Amino acid sequence: MGDKPDLTGKVAIVTGGGKGIGRAIALGLAEAGAKVMVASRTGPELESTVAEIQQKGGQAAARVTDLSKPEESEALLATTLEDFGTVDIVVNNAARSVLRPLMDIREDGIDKIFQVNVKAPLLLSRAAAKVMMGKGGGKIVNITTVGAERGGPFMGVYFASKAALKMLTMCMAVEWAPFNINVNAVGPAMTKTDFSKPLWSNPEMHSQLAARIPQGRLAEPEDIVGAVLFLCSDAANFINGTTLYVDGGALANS
Ligand SMILES: NC(=O)c1ccc[n+]([C@@H]2O[C@H](COP(=O)([O-])OP(=O)(O)OC[C@H]3O[C@@H](n4cnc5c(N)ncnc54)[C@H](OP(=O)(O)O)[C@@H]3O)[C@@H](O)[C@H]2O)c1
Repeated sequence: MGDKPDLTGKVAIVTGGGKGIGRAIALGLAEAGAKVMVASRTGPELESTVAEIQQKGGQAAARVTDLSKPEESEALLATTLEDFGTVDIVVNNAARSVLRPLMDIREDGIDKIFQVNVKAPLLLSRAAAKVMMGKGGGKIVNITTVGAERGGPFMGVYFASKAALKMLTMCMAVEWAPFNINVNAVGPAMTKTDFSKPLWSNPEMHSQLAARIPQGRLAEPEDIVGAVLFLCSDAANFINGTTLYVDGGALANS
């Protein structure tokens, strides 16, 4: 178990758990003792996460899910209840973005970003919260970004969606705190995954991006895990509606 909190027996859903930050979170939750359901649209990636968890002696399952379809959030929860009997933790990590000026982004692109980044976390969270309310509580962690706090070019709709998710985090926390449900967010700075690869794969841009971060480097997916595990643990029982930024000091430097 090492320095990880003890989440033995807890059941967690991680959206986008097949790759990047979501995969690292799923592995971290499993190492802490949780049973993990991972979900995204890409079955082989999910199966790879499940296999790695099982190889390490953990319990995991996968459900192919397109979170842009509202009914699939409900189906994801139903599968989790069938496989593991309950739900204690939801990590809303899946997201989509597009690197394009606001003048050029297509109207249906705006809708798709808000469907996956805002609507889906609300639908999955409230479906899970109904179960959590019946069992005395639970933890919900929404993955946002430092871009929820400050503007920038070419990702305006994505940033706006994450600012909306930050506000939903606060409002879910307010409405569900009486049921002992903690809803918080974790906001990474740029992290080396496929999501941001178009930016950091250019060596010159990589240096420029790292120079803006006081700790002098971009995050690795594993850097984000500790904050999520903490917010899912009993140590965070009186933390509600807040965002924990994991950014190497980036926001403090603006
Ligand atoms: N990387 C960064 O620099 C960075 C910085 C700040 C915040 N974040 C946040 O961190 C989280 C994880 O990002 P990442 O960097 O790990 O990205 P990633 O490697 O591209 O992973 C994104 C995940 O979201 C899933 N996803 C996208 N659309 C989906 C849909 N319609 N239905 C179900 N799953 C869907 C993807 O799976 P499929 O495509 O297979 O469905 C994938 O598993 C996101 O919330 C992102 O906003 C990332």
